[in-house]
Parts: sequence; structure tokens; C-alpha cells
Amino acid sequence: MSNKKNFPDNFLWGVGYSSHQVEGNNSNNDWWEWEQEGKTKERSGWACDSWNRYPVDHRLAQELGCNAFRLSLEWSRIEPKEGKFSEEAIEHYRKVLRDVKDKNMKCVVTLWHWTLPLWFSHRYGWHKKESVKYFTRYCKKVIEELGDEIDLLITLNEPRLPLNRGYIIGEFPPGKRNPYWFFKARKNMVQAHIKCYELSKKINRNISIGLTQYCNDFNFVGRCKPIKVLTEKIEDFYNWYFFTQIGEAQDFIGINYYYGYDYKITWKYPFFERVVKNDEMRNNMDWEFSPKGIYELVMDAWRKYKKPIYIFENGAADAEDRIRSQYINGHLKYLHKAIKNGADARGYFHWSLIDNFEWLEGFWPRFGLCEMNYETMERKPRQSYYFYQRIIKHNSLDTE
Ligand code: BGC
Repeated sequence: MSNKKNFPDNFLWGVGYSSHQVEGNNSNNDWWEWEQEGKTKERSGWACDSWNRYPVDHRLAQELGCNAFRLSLEWSRIEPKEGKFSEEAIEHYRKVLRDVKDKNMKCVVTLWHWTLPLWFSHRYGWHKKESVKYFTRYCKKVIEELGDEIDLLITLNEPRLPLNRGYIIGEFPPGKRNPYWFFKARKNMVQAHIKCYELSKKINRNISIGLTQYCNDFNFVGRCKPIKVLTEKIEDFYNWYFFTQIGEAQDFIGINYYYGYDYKITWKYPFFERVVKNDEMRNNMDWEFSPKGIYELVMDAWRKYKKPIYIFENGAADAEDRIRSQYINGHLKYLHKAIKNGADARGYFHWSLIDNFEWLEGFWPRFGLCEMNYETMERKPRQSYYFYQRIIKHNSLDTE
């Protein structure tokens, strides 16, 4: 007997990627500089050459059946020098967004997916108060020039993660270990988002605007009261801080979810440690399969904020395509359960359409529904691409 799990009408089915990870030749930003300094395993170089090959990517998404496509704009191309906007780059992105629209997909656009123009990173950085003003100016330009093509606007992608790795651990640009700057930068990001929200509502009310956060489902071993309280505190810090701070200045809640771990408490920063399970479904980066976490997070977000929720990232580094289909199925089952239990989840975006440049790790982790041949730049759908295609086509999971 078939046991169909239908998704709501108008549910957004999408895929996503970000400028620096796919475009290639983004030589005017802080990550490029970081790569030249030898701080990543590989350099992004031509990446997937999506700057030129975007129509191929869009066609792959269209053939997959997507009704939405998530991409990011490269600030360092749009504003290559302080206060000097590049008409050429804006025109390029206009073509990119129109091409998405022509293929009957909604445009989900991220303003900042971790890369900063060199003029900004050298002179300012998120920890400087000027960052608010300059990011807002960039946002204003984008909305004025490209706003008509944008359906959903994500100001910041996962702000907590690069802040932590860039201002505490020091392995991402700007490579600092300075908690004071961490807090300054975090505050500025919150302010920048709120300002962008306000101005976006003045310029173009049709755009839905919010941010997306990397969320983790924290399962602490032990169930006593102090552990429960601690878990909530950690989740408030890791998952919900930005959403709570920006309050009403958001039209939706964006969740990026990859894995959940079991943890135990320790006395060393960050005061908890992973309990490693022996798991067949672990991906190439050793991330465990924990689909139930998506349910917990969506339900928590719904209870806390009562706003539409989108899963903007969910995926696995899986070069052999061994677990990806099951990974998608597992997470969608739990997302469906959350919808059934009343959460207003409106979309799922798989990360990623194609293999791409995975930051510190370089090119070895392969997150794509399509396999990249970096020699020929050919994109080849994997089996999981067809698996996801069937789900999208039926707008449902067939669990039998
Ligand atoms: C980031 C992506 C990255 C993915 C997989 C997310 O945190 O937004 O840029 O590729 O994780 O690591």
C-alpha cells in the first residue's frame, strides 16, 4: 500500500549555491586572498566557471523540476572599489536573475555568503562600525537595480559560523582570535540586517527578506534539568541568536541543516564534545545522518517565531552518491512531519546543484546532485538528481 506524503501546494523546491563557490575568478575578495596565502587546501581558481556557465546550471535546475533557485551575489564584483559600483557586474547579475525567471523559477538571492570585497576587509571588516553603513549601501544598490527580479532576499548566510571561525578560531578570514571583535561584529551584523530590512520595505515591498542560519540539533547525553536548561542556552546562542535579535525585521526564518550530533559536557571551550557513533550513513566529511534534527529545529523555530520557514540548505558530501538519496528522503520525511504538525514550512533547497569549492577544504568534498568534471567543466547528474526529480514531480514522498 502506498503511503504518500504530500507537500503543500506552492511549496518551493529548489537547489542552491553561492558566488565564490561556483563562479570562478573572484579575485577581489578576502577569501581569494586567504587562498593565495595558502590557508585553504586548494584555491578556488575557476571553480565551476558558473560566471559564464550559469545558463547550464539553470537548465539543470529547471529539468530537475525546481520552481526556485538560490544563488548569491558577489559584493566584490558589484562594488569592486569603495563606493564605485560596477554597471557591468550589475548587468551580468540582471541577466542571471532573468534567466532564472525565464526558466520559471523564483529567485532566492543571498547578499552575503561569506566573501567581502578587499577594500572592505582591508579597511573595515564586520567588527568596525562602518560595516553597517557600507553593507546597507550595497543592499540598497542591489534592491534598486535588481529588486524586481528578486523574490526572497537573504541578507546574511549563516552569520554565526564565519564569525566563530573568523573571530574566535581564526581559521576563516579575517583570521582573528578576539572575542571582543566577535561580539562587535555580531552586533554590527544584526544592525546591518535590520537596516537592510527597513530600507527594503521602503524601496520594494514585494521582496520577502530574512536571513538563514546554520542550525544544529543538540542532543545532550543525560536528561536532568540542568542539562535541559544548558541545551536551551546553547541552542539560543548557536541557532536562534540572530533571529531573536532581529525580531520583527524578518519575513521568514531560514534554516540550513546538515547534521545533528550527540554531545557530552566537558570543561574545555566550547564546553561540549561530540559523542561519535558508528554510523553507516556518515558522509565523506564524517558528518552523521540525523534527519530527525530537521523536525526538532523546524518545530522550535515555528514555536518561537511563528513565521514562514524555509530550509535553504541540506545536503551531504558524498562523492560516490551512496547515501544522498536516502539523506534527502530521510530529511524530507521529517520536514513533512513538521508541516503536518502545524509548522509553516514553505520550501526545501538542496545543497548543492553541482559539486563546488568547499572553502577551507577545497574541491574534494562533493555536495552536488550533479558531478563536476573540473577539467572539462561538464556537469553530470548523479542518481540522486533523478531521485529528487521524482519527489519534485509528484510534490510528495512515496514512502512505500
Ligand atoms: C555553507 C555552504 C557550504 C555548506 C557545506 C554551509 O554552511 O553555507 O557554503 O558549502 O555548508 O559545508
